[in-house]
Amino acid sequence: MRHWPLTQLTLTTTDLVLRVPDDGRLDELAQVAADGVVPAGAVYFPQPWASGTPRESARSVVQNHWWARGDWREDNWRLLLAVFHDGQVIGQQNLSAHDFLVTREARTGFWLGRRFQGRGFGTQMRAAALYLAFDCLGAQRVISTAFADNAASRRVSQKFGYEPGGVRRLAVGHRLVEAHDDVLTADRWHRLSRQPIKVEGFEECRSLFGVPAPPPPVDVVRHV
Ligand SMILES: CC(C)(COP(=O)(O)OP(=O)(O)OC[C@H]1O[C@@H](n2cnc3c(N)ncnc32)[C@H](O)[C@@H]1OP(=O)(O)O)[C@@H](O)C(=O)NCCC(=O)NCCS
Repeated sequence: MRHWPLTQLTLTTTDLVLRVPDDGRLDELAQVAADGVVPAGAVYFPQPWASGTPRESARSVVQNHWWARGDWREDNWRLLLAVFHDGQVIGQQNLSAHDFLVTREARTGFWLGRRFQGRGFGTQMRAAALYLAFDCLGAQRVISTAFADNAASRRVSQKFGYEPGGVRRLAVGHRLVEAHDDVLTADRWHRLSRQPIKVEGFEECRSLFGVPAPPPPVDVVRHV
């Protein structure tokens, strides 16, 4: 789509492709959510979208994508990428920021259909989001939040060398949860040895993120 260049953004990892879904693919993503994301009774998100009935979960995914698209602003954006493995939609990776140009801080979120969990895909998804944040957008910090009992999500952050950034107490319905805000800085990210990530279509949508292009290299005039 010429006038919504985010549709051209593609991140490719060893096993996965991440892209903004068109409505057909969004419907498939909604079905993945309907088939189940969290174990029965678990609460891993502040909003109860993944704990509703299959129909509620699916609709919530669809509406969330439409809302994120419609509400997009350069100073307040929420990128929701569908994740594909062998052409099949398996989950979602988010990257979002408020006033990014000032704060240089972004947040991630992610989920996979239950049958796709525990195969290393979450780690690759996070790596792709971190690459976009640090290497393309010039983030200085990325925050990833996981509830205390979400061992898989917290382990993914640990693998990238996040540092503890504080614990918040949240009410999810009538339940008290502790949300761990872990922080990865650009310094630590750039010191990691990492799997290659391919990014296509970023320059076309750079302006949507409100991030100016780096200045071109200066021609050095030599006086002899
Ligand atoms: C969180 C999530 C996206 C991670 O994706 P994933 O593909 O399962 O993660 P990976 O396989 O890449 O890595 C998970 C790591 O956690 C570890 N892990 C998983 N369950 C664990 C447990 N109960 N205790 C300790 N470690 C655990 C795995 O061993 C792995 O670490 P390793 O690579 O060192 O062995 C996925 O599990 C998911 O969708 N969960 C439900 C939704 C959710 O919780 N979203 C995040 C909200 S913050």
